[in-house]
Amino acid sequence: MPNIPALDRRSLLAAGAMLSAAPAFARSVRQANPRFPEAFLWGAATAPHQVEGNNTASDLWFMENQQPTIFAAPSGDACNSLELWSTDLDIVKSLGLNSYRFGVEWARIEPEAGLFSQAMLDHYKAIVAGCHERGLRPLVAFNHFTAPRWFSAQGGWMNPEAPQLFARYCDRVARAIGADIAMAMTLNEPNILAILRPMLPGQVWDLQRATLEAAARRLGVERFSCANIAAKEDIDAVEAGLAEGHKAARMAIKAVAPDLPVGLTLSVIDDQATGRNSIRDRVREETYGKWLELAKSDDFIGVQNYERAVWGEKGRIPPPADSDRNWSGTEVWAPSLAGAVRYVHEATGRPILVSEHGVGTNDDTLRARFIPAALESLKRVMDQGVPVLGYVHWSLLDNFEWIFGYKPRFGLCSVDRETFERTPKASAKVLGAIAMRNTL
Ligand code: FCB
Repeated sequence: MPNIPALDRRSLLAAGAMLSAAPAFARSVRQANPRFPEAFLWGAATAPHQVEGNNTASDLWFMENQQPTIFAAPSGDACNSLELWSTDLDIVKSLGLNSYRFGVEWARIEPEAGLFSQAMLDHYKAIVAGCHERGLRPLVAFNHFTAPRWFSAQGGWMNPEAPQLFARYCDRVARAIGADIAMAMTLNEPNILAILRPMLPGQVWDLQRATLEAAARRLGVERFSCANIAAKEDIDAVEAGLAEGHKAARMAIKAVAPDLPVGLTLSVIDDQATGRNSIRDRVREETYGKWLELAKSDDFIGVQNYERAVWGEKGRIPPPADSDRNWSGTEVWAPSLAGAVRYVHEATGRPILVSEHGVGTNDDTLRARFIPAALESLKRVMDQGVPVLGYVHWSLLDNFEWIFGYKPRFGLCSVDRETFERTPKASAKVLGAIAMRNTL
């Protein structure tokens, strides 16, 4: 079925080795070349819970519908991509991209513990085949925050059995699609809680705890626990379970598909230091330290960047008053992508996939400016020898943005919430044109 060369482990390692071992003169030649590498991946991303709709066996669906709930709105039909996935693939293709990042939904594949749905595995096989028919490389997340409700009702990632339960599911997925996908991401942003720990006010953590407690009460279980919603005091335990989960999943996937590149994705802010005694390095250690260590044994690492943070001696320094802002008023600064990529490569030595990057805004002109500006700085760090395998924009569609509901808009395409009609925005054409030219 696949009619495009697989991006196997050997070519990944070769790409990394070639770039980091390149002699100085080769570097200056590369600097003069405005083109991205031949096999560069240009993609757009979705996540199953955010676009498919009616993910009723999942933990977050249950959480969205509790009282109280931290969720601004329930996911409901989302973008109805469970039905409309081939339309989504057509759009990715028509924009001129060559890859599609999507996720397989654990709660659909294993809606009850140990009960696997062949029909749902076939569904995702069809999406993979659909990618190949269109010349798109499938980049697949095995878990993008959501888990089956039964899993979270058993303590989620804090359950000592969690890694093995996750690995059992990953084995099934790898058997179904492992030979036909280009890259596998075990977990999406297992460090998201660590990132949010210093950012969110106490009341938000309290409401997360209250939502989890409501879910546990409703099911008559001791504790309900999720990957991206937690009580503050549980963050370390959830992260520890996720880390073991990643290792077990990697082993399970490699056992079935030894040549398939496997990694995880991290949320990475471009942390910058200012003044004497900046706390930047301490913040980095707490937020990424153990994950970067773990990723050293992976084939690649996915970097997901949306912002920068400037750290002084006492904490985060407010951004300049005239800086660009996203929907929530947070500063967006295009070169942050390159800073995050450089840091992660220097810390791990691994090739990088930009597995998410984007901006949540109703002003698409900002997105249209932001994409080429970020890519320009990304190309600069690539020219300096950082191996980057591809750039995947978040997101293909305006979709369900977790606790914020449908308010933030990250899409290259808008989605009519009644008809589900997708309409590419101007920024989609900007990214597509760069991808087709393979140069800025
Ligand atoms: C990342 C998530 C992704 C989306 C973007 C905006 O943290 O991985 O699902 O919510 O942020």
